[in-house]
Parts: sequence; structure tokens; C-alpha cells
Amino acid sequence: MCGIIAYAGANEAYPILIDGLRKLEYRGYDSAGIGTVNGAVHLHKRTGKVNDLVSYCEDKNTSGNMGLGHTRWATHGSATNLNAHPHQSQSKRLTMVHNGIIENHQSLKEMLEFHGFEFETETDSEVLVQLVEWYQIRYKLSTREALGRALQDVQGSFAVVLHDTTAKHQLLAVRRQSPLVVGVGDAEYFISSDSMTFDRSSESIIYLEEDVIAQLCYNEAPVFYSLEDQVVDQDLLPFDYKKVAVSKGDFESFTLKEIFEQNLSISRTLDGFENSDVDEITKMLQSTDRIIITACGTSWHSGIVAEYLIEKYAHLNVEVEYASEMRYKSHTLGDRDLVIGISQSGETADTKMALEIAKSKGVKTIAIVNGVDSSIARIADRVIYLKAGIEIGVASTKAFTSQLSAILMLTLLIARTKKSLTIAQVDEMMAELNKLPGYVSETLSSSKQMARRIAYHISDARSALYLGRGISFPIAIEGALKLKEISYIHAEGYPSGEMKHGPIALIEEDLPVVAVVNNDDSAAKIISNIQEVKARKAMVVVIKNKNVELPKGLADHVINVPDVPSYLNPIIQSIPLQLLAYYTAKLKGCNIDQPRNLAKSVTVE
Ligand code: G6P
Repeated sequence: MCGIIAYAGANEAYPILIDGLRKLEYRGYDSAGIGTVNGAVHLHKRTGKVNDLVSYCEDKNTSGNMGLGHTRWATHGSATNLNAHPHQSQSKRLTMVHNGIIENHQSLKEMLEFHGFEFETETDSEVLVQLVEWYQIRYKLSTREALGRALQDVQGSFAVVLHDTTAKHQLLAVRRQSPLVVGVGDAEYFISSDSMTFDRSSESIIYLEEDVIAQLCYNEAPVFYSLEDQVVDQDLLPFDYKKVAVSKGDFESFTLKEIFEQNLSISRTLDGFENSDVDEITKMLQSTDRIIITACGTSWHSGIVAEYLIEKYAHLNVEVEYASEMRYKSHTLGDRDLVIGISQSGETADTKMALEIAKSKGVKTIAIVNGVDSSIARIADRVIYLKAGIEIGVASTKAFTSQLSAILMLTLLIARTKKSLTIAQVDEMMAELNKLPGYVSETLSSSKQMARRIAYHISDARSALYLGRGISFPIAIEGALKLKEISYIHAEGYPSGEMKHGPIALIEEDLPVVAVVNNDDSAAKIISNIQEVKARKAMVVVIKNKNVELPKGLADHVINVPDVPSYLNPIIQSIPLQLLAYYTAKLKGCNIDQPRNLAKSVTVE
């Protein structure tokens, strides 16, 4: 989704802004723009990729030691050059980049139009910059005071960087429910929606609190103000560049690299679990009779896996909710409930909101997140960090398998706390969990060639069906999601038993049907479901453990994964499904790291 980068210092802003915009590309966007300040503001905005903006800027004036840059993911108004940020106020005195949504933009716009303001764009962001100017003019306020007043009128979420041409070396930055951080270097400031845009020049970092305006002037110390213009304090923390630096290494894409490093990311998750708030989480579990898991997209699929695992091994009732639906359900949340939010980014607006609802009802909350210091991590009472490392590919791969690994660890913690398993049983499962990185490496190398070959049979398909049963059902729907996200082939995931109640009508000759067969008591049943598919001449691909025997001629293609205990299968089975989606998308020439219309971090509800 939208990304912000801004700079104020002694260096040329343009290369810093472009470098920042490139690092933000992974979040998903459809236009990009910059404004550099050199006395006047030089604004350049383009639909398409950052490279299109760079080509456009080749013969333009991009000089200045200060500037604002933005990648836009269209919400209010389509993706056009005009709607791209930065936006300016009517007099062109103010220039602003904005992430988030101004929910009451319509009424504010009508008020401003009544007072003679004219609008050039369809965006809610332009309303905000105009509103600041209106306060400046009407009440003769300073820019900072006017910004504070304007934001008191605003409903919604925002991360904003504002420049006033009359304050030459100054940028103002402020946020509410949308991330914004300030990197502090040697007499220079970097402002961004994501600290991974910062390079070694940032020595410290400020995680701006909500509704705090940072006043950042070249060569001056930062000063912070409340919206009512009172000076407030903010913490300056050391910035560790190594933690955010990422590269593709020798891989052709970030997604492929992330798939192939899952042995390492899972190892980090397992090692890191014990350093989470384990004692406090154990205390919470002692007073818990029901768990409600809330998440979106791939993380929601992790939630379904958690439901199977926790109910089976820890004997606790689990409900899984789409975060975007949580507020529309009249849950009777009580003090023996625990709400767990799962999110790779830690910034998903719906999940954040769902956790806030739980908190407002006094319910205990835990976040399982990858994004360190993310909003969701800060909202929840306790946090389990995945430590998977930054995930750049928009479609989640390593963060997903790390979520599943953390969920396995949590399941064992609950089982221990609730005494639903004996110590010997927990130890045995722990021993298997410790072998997981090895199983993952084995699966990566054994399934790669086969997935590549099968991709040739899928890449021309218009749609595909994915089937699973029991704990492999969420893995089937995740496999379908991966295929549609990155290859744009329509794919549906179903519990295989439900196939006969509808999807069977879609089965025709050569339709790819990918079945995930688990080595537990669900195997016989899913095998009969595959027989129903085969009888209708579909093209059957089976992902199964080596020790599972299939009737002769049942599958057109088989990918064998190691014989692991069934509770490890969700992780192991995910790998060939990720590779299948990857190589199919590659054959189709898709932009795998940045699929169209998708965003890595969905910060709007
Ligand atoms: C976006 C991403 C998905 C992700 C979902 C939830 O749609 O493209 O890959 O699963 O958001 O994100 P979260 O960060 O909360 O896991």
C-alpha cells in the first residue's frame, strides 16, 4: 500500500527519495511522485512504476536538499498522474504526502468549497492539505498550529509529511493509525512509513506516537508538539541498519529467495519463541477457556491451522474470524477468552481494529507478528515475534511457515499449561519440531524439479481447484491463494468433502485439481474424493507424504514430501504449493514480487 519517504539534510534529496521509493515498491502501488525543494517545489508524478517516474524526471529539475516522495495505491480516485502524491494546497504554499484514509473527506471538502477552495484531484489527501491552508488563512495560524487544528477535524487514519515553502528547511510529520518513523542522521532527517528505507546514515530512530507532530529542520534538533501545540517528548532509539537491510542475493526474485530460506526463517522462529513473553503468556493461558483468532489473508489460513492444532492437542475451543468481519459479530467476549491477532506485517488495519475491539472489551490479547515494533505488536498485551526476517515478496511465504511454526510452539505451551498432553508427549513433539528446519531443506530440494515440471501443465489453465481434508484443508486454500495472487489463475480451495456439494459441477477434462493428502485418518477419505475427480477426467496433482500409497493411475503428477508427523505437514506441504504457484507465475511472465493490485501491508479497512 501507499509508502512515504521524505528527506531534509545537506545532501541532494532526489537520489535518496528514489532509493526510498524503490525500497517501498514491494508494498504494492500504482503511481509514484516526488517533490524536491530548492526555493520552489519541483513536483513530478507518474502512474506506473518508480522506473517510469525516473525516466520522466530525466530532463526535469529535481534539485534540492529537501523533498517528499510517495508511492500511491489508489483508494479515492483512480490511478492517474494528477491523483498521485505529493498534493498541494490552492496557493501552492503547502505540499503534502499522505498515507491512510480521511473518512470524513466529503463533508470537509464541501465546507472548503463553500469557502471558495477549488480541487484538482479526486483524492481525500488533497482535502487535508487544503484544510491546513484554510486554518492558516482563516485563523492566521502557523503551519504547525494549522496542521494540529486540521487533524483534530479529521476522522480516519493518516501518516503525513508536510512542507511549507515559507519555512525553507522544515518538514512536519505526524501519524494516526498508520506507521511513520523518523531516522536521525548527522544533521539530517529521513522520514518514512517503513524503516527499511533507511540506510546507514540513520543513527537513531523515532517511532512517532499518534497525534504527535515532529518538527524537523535541517541542522536543528527535532521538536515534538501535540495537536494542541504543546511541546511533548518522544524517545530516540538506536537504529540498527543490519536488521533492516535486505537483498535478493543470487536469486531472481525476493519471493524465490524467501521460499528457499524457510529452513533458516523457521529456525529463527523456533529459537525466538522461548524469548517471547512466555511466562506472561502462560499466566494468560491459565485463565483462558476459549481462543478467538483474528487475521486476514494468508495469516487467516494460519489461524485455521491453529484451530485444528490447538483443539486436537490442547483441548481448547478455538474460533477463527476474518478481522474485517470481527466488528460485525456480536461476540460475547469475556474474561476467560483470549484473542490472538496474526499478521506478518503487523500493520493490517482490519486486524488492528479487531484487536482494539477485543481490548476495549477488556479481553486478553496476543499478537503473532513478524513486523518488529509494528502497530499490532504495540496494541496487543503480549507479543510472539516470528523473527522470520523482512519479507519483501507481496505474497507471503516464509512469514506463513513461521506463523505455523510459532503456532505449533504455542500449541505445546497451551498443552503443557492445560496438561492435555503428558510431559513425555510434549517432549516427543518438541524433538520433532527441532527437526523441522531439516525437513524443510529436504522438501525444498526434493520438490523443486517436480513443481517446475507440473507448472507447465497448469500455466495455460483458466482455473484450478485445490482440495484438502482436516489439517491439510487450510493448506489447500493457502495453495489456491498463492496461485491466484501471483499467477492470476483463478483458483479455489475447498475441503475435499465439500466438493460434491457444488465445485464438482466445475470439474471437466484437464482442469488442474491439486489435492493435499495427509498421512493421518483423513487420507482414505480424500483419496476417494480424488477418485471422483479423476472419474471426470480432471488433471490430478497430488502432494503427499512418501509413505502414503495411492491407487494406481489416480494421479497424473505426484510430489512426495518427507514422512513427518501429521502436525508438521501444514508446513511441509506448503512448500511444494508455493513452488508450484511460483513456477506457474514465472512461465506466465508475471511480476511475482509485486503482483498487480495487491499490497504487502494493507493499512486501510
Ligand atoms: C495482504 C497481503 C497478504 C497478507 C494479508 C494479511 O493482502 O498481500 O499476503 O496475507 O495482507 O496481511 P498481514 O500482514 O496481516 O499478515
